[in-house]
Amino acid sequence: MTDVFGTSHKDVHEQVVFCADEQSGLRAIIAIHNTALGPALGGTRFYPYDSEQAALADVLNLAKGMSYKNALAGLDLGGGKAVIIGDPARDKSEPLLRAYGRFVESLGGRYITACDVGTYSEDMDIVARESRFVTGRTVANGGAGDSSILTAFGVFQGMRASAERVFGTPSLHGRRVGVEGVGKVGHRLVDLLREDGAEVVVCDVSERAVERVRQRHPEVDVVADARALVTADIDVFAPCALGGALDDDTVAELRAKIVCGAANNQLAHLGVEKQLEDRGILYAPDYVVNSGGVIQVADEIRGFDMERARSKAAQIYDTTLKIFEIAAEEGVPPAVAADRLAERRMSEVGRIRAIWLGR
Ligand SMILES: NC(=O)c1ccc[n+]([C@@H]2O[C@H](COP(=O)([O-])OP(=O)(O)OC[C@H]3O[C@@H](n4cnc5c(N)ncnc54)[C@H](O)[C@@H]3O)[C@@H](O)[C@H]2O)c1
Repeated sequence: MTDVFGTSHKDVHEQVVFCADEQSGLRAIIAIHNTALGPALGGTRFYPYDSEQAALADVLNLAKGMSYKNALAGLDLGGGKAVIIGDPARDKSEPLLRAYGRFVESLGGRYITACDVGTYSEDMDIVARESRFVTGRTVANGGAGDSSILTAFGVFQGMRASAERVFGTPSLHGRRVGVEGVGKVGHRLVDLLREDGAEVVVCDVSERAVERVRQRHPEVDVVADARALVTADIDVFAPCALGGALDDDTVAELRAKIVCGAANNQLAHLGVEKQLEDRGILYAPDYVVNSGGVIQVADEIRGFDMERARSKAAQIYDTTLKIFEIAAEEGVPPAVAADRLAERRMSEVGRIRAIWLGR
């Protein structure tokens, strides 16, 4: 049973809203984890959950993750997330998305939505017809468009910082990088790596995705699956497919010295961060290096400017280095250092709101 009010102060969510509209079939849950830094920003996941419990557990977990991600991305935004229960291929419709938009609007700006698994910029355009609190709309509608552009760019910056720490130079020239999953983010990361002179080896369950990379970069090596990638002679492992890429078995077999990729929730369970450290593998925390996407859509709130967003995403390089420094100073794995830094910012910057403004 999921505990809505949390088991510790870190797990407490400020607000959880259940939304239903019978006619359109909308069943959604919006979770606002923390607004110490500003309104909660996080995407809407459209997914056929097995149960309401599973949907609730997911949205609570994802909303909390957004608080940490937005805090470390240096945004004046809190963390939130929404889930719509259903099969997007079958259940998505204009009335459902607009009904959802009205619930988002009803929160008065405490929650700002965006795309996630199962939702696209075109869907956000529809949600935006009912709400002002929507980002990730299409470029044609003044939106930031496909967030995978700056997600890949940010992961690349995190990888450069990791290379600086491990090899003493941020360049990936001549390094062999294994990319698991060459979808929206992964294939763009391959472009950036090739531009920098890295050797690249990829795997993907989708033949189409592999083919797209092969067409652009015929020199890129392809292996059968994630296990072949993990056991290959690579310097850097970049998980860009699904979560849970790093489990006990993967970590035991991994030959890379760095793990830095776009996938969310890469650590299969608590303790994997320590196993990585014990094996001398530097782990760049996922939510730090993949925050380019949220930086891109957050920029839309004040009128999207790609160059401004890109220079903000470039700061992921410094943030990642800072996390490695704190980890070394405090004797903890980088994943723990990242959490501490995010909590520090939420508490220290959030606290200044207690200053009375006299109006
Ligand atoms: N798109 C963004 O802006 C963004 C932002 C932050 C985090 N992320 C995370 O990055 C990851 C990739 O996102 P995306 O937008 O590129 O998604 P995507 O669906 O476009 O790409 C994922 C790719 O992984 C492949 N894949 C799935 N299972 C695999 C497996 N077992 N082995 C190898 N390949 C496999 C898929 O075929 C697909 O090509 C996800 O975990 C996502 O949550 C994405």
